[in-house]
Amino acid sequence: MQEELIKVSGGARLSGVVPITGAKNSVLKLMAASILASGATTITNTPAISDVFIMGEVLKRLGAQVHLDGHVMTIDTTGINSYETPYDLVVQMRASVAVLGPLVGRFGRARVAMPGGCQIGSRKLDMHLLGLEELGVSFEVSHGYINATVPKTGLKAAHVTLEFASVGATENLMVAACCAKGTTVIENAAREPEISDLANFLNLMGARISGQGTPVITVEGVDPSSFVPVPSYSTVGDRIEAGTFLVAGALAGGPLTVQGVNPEFLALPLKKLKSFGAHIETGEDFITISREEPLKATDIQTLPYPGFPTDLQPQFMVLTAVAQGTSVITENIFENRFMFADELIRMGANIRIEGHHAIVEGVEQLSGAPVRASDLRAGAGLVLAGLVADGETTVGELTHIDRGYEGFVDKLKAVGAQIERA
Ligand code: EPU
Repeated sequence: MQEELIKVSGGARLSGVVPITGAKNSVLKLMAASILASGATTITNTPAISDVFIMGEVLKRLGAQVHLDGHVMTIDTTGINSYETPYDLVVQMRASVAVLGPLVGRFGRARVAMPGGCQIGSRKLDMHLLGLEELGVSFEVSHGYINATVPKTGLKAAHVTLEFASVGATENLMVAACCAKGTTVIENAAREPEISDLANFLNLMGARISGQGTPVITVEGVDPSSFVPVPSYSTVGDRIEAGTFLVAGALAGGPLTVQGVNPEFLALPLKKLKSFGAHIETGEDFITISREEPLKATDIQTLPYPGFPTDLQPQFMVLTAVAQGTSVITENIFENRFMFADELIRMGANIRIEGHHAIVEGVEQLSGAPVRASDLRAGAGLVLAGLVADGETTVGELTHIDRGYEGFVDKLKAVGAQIERA
């Protein structure tokens, strides 16, 4: 069978409204957290993306029933009778490890395959395990699996300071701490909006979490058997999907509106878009971008939230590639995220990589070429590059894009892109 490709021809002006779905990096954790309560949870604004299908499979293998109807997901955890997440799922999606905290919290045990490396870097789990150990979890790692057990006396609260504000470690720890005796304090916690979304969801289940969205999260533990399923919870809008389409608008003129996202969650990317020369207007749940002047070089460095998100770095690299002047991009989160630059260079970009810095000299125009997505955000970045390249760009390895963007091609087509998937 011939590989599916996205074919995009550059030069069309994009304008219109793009609906934004729920955040991938939130919904995956909400789904995992549903394990804490026995019964049926409903999560609305769920994106129909392959990572969500994989997390659905993770939950099904544990014994849950999972249904997705449009954007409404129902998870019934009543039948959970297994505590194992096997390698064939973890290897497809590293975020499968988000079940670790919920499983040890509710059942006192978990067996989860160790994730290997992935396209964007080595991505260790040490902070997840060290934090959970402080709550009393014992780990034994053998034959590629992490076996976690909790003493009969249950989890105990602790004061944990994370070495780095890791999103995944903060989440696993926060969920497990909900089931610990006493009050846990997580210092240097990640502050991403998706962490707050998870904390708000857990609080509706009966947890007592405060401080979410700040570097210090406090979790007052409750009896693990007291959690109740949430009858309906709407996932927060995907700031990364929104940011990706805003870059499309900045590249291709606009006015383009992303609808269904809180502009506050994109404060720094919006500031950078203005510095590139775009005009931005915001409302409660939408952002409109347009640009008439030429793009101007702008430096970017990725940092944990509220810093500039690494998940928008490749897309913004496309802006620097066609902006007037020299931009420096510094990637502080994932060491392999510059693999994307090599594909962009094939399209005529002038980029020099020095360690975790990319020095980008803007060129007049990119030239369409056959390219391949090395990861989810790189895939999106290559399609964006194709929007302003001369001639046709064909993007391969679309499974990466399908992990995190629902209807990416259809949404771009609806606002005027000359794009198809075949
Ligand atoms: N790290 C460790 N040890 C740990 C945990 C993390 O060294 O125990 C390191 C990682 O190797 C990495 C850095 O800390 O260098 C940041 O990792 P973090 O734990 O914050 O990231 P994550 O939870 O693995 C989530 C998102 C990523 C996003 C990052 C940073 C999900 C499912 N994934 O990953 O999303 O880039 O936070 O914001 O929430 C994407 O959507 O394309 C994506 C990769």
